Amino acid sequence: MTDVARVLWGREDIRRRVEELGRAVTGDYQGREPVLISVLKGGSVFLADLFREIRLPVSVEYMAISRYGNAAESLGRVRILMDVQTDLAGRDVVLVEDIVDTGLTLSYLLSSLLARTPASLEVCTLLDKSVRRIAPLEVRYVGFDCPDQFVIGYGLDFRERYRNLADILAVQDMQALEADPDLLLPFLS
Ligand code: IMP
Repeated sequence: MTDVARVLWGREDIRRRVEELGRAVTGDYQGREPVLISVLKGGSVFLADLFREIRLPVSVEYMAISRYGNAAESLGRVRILMDVQTDLAGRDVVLVEDIVDTGLTLSYLLSSLLARTPASLEVCTLLDKSVRRIAPLEVRYVGFDCPDQFVIGYGLDFRERYRNLADILAVQDMQALEADPDLLLPFLS
């Protein structure tokens, strides 16, 4: 089991970093009331922790998207399955993501959000796989720079499993996990 995946960031590392990000957002948005937008499903765990570390009035919105194939195949084109329930015109918007990989999904989402004329639009991602970036993007808040490995936990899934892991794991043997997706269940205990 241990050579199939290893802990990259433990729950305590994550807690500390999320607290720092919350403090940064609090400082930057003094006197304003930002709207945090989370992209389901992966980003919801991070959002839930992050917004409790923001000492400002904030509101929360959710979007759900589906991709046409993987990000590179779809060139980032996504279908919005569920949209925010509020008018974003003139609002300070922070898009909260679990992970930015090629950046193609995010750049599509950003252009869709920009079209609604917010007062400002920034991105806060827990993980940034910056080495894999295709779409040039400015990401204002980054939790951790992520190695080019498949990661799971803290909202991130492998075939819908493992979003509930408190730690973030890097999968080292994808073949073994594909053959037996339950292999990492012991990490849940
Ligand atoms: P992008 O368009 O390539 O930036 O894809 C971003 C999306 O791909 C994320 O929101 C995740 O849903 C998914 N993703 C990318 N890398 C990983 C990973 O290592 N683990 C789990 N999901 C990932």
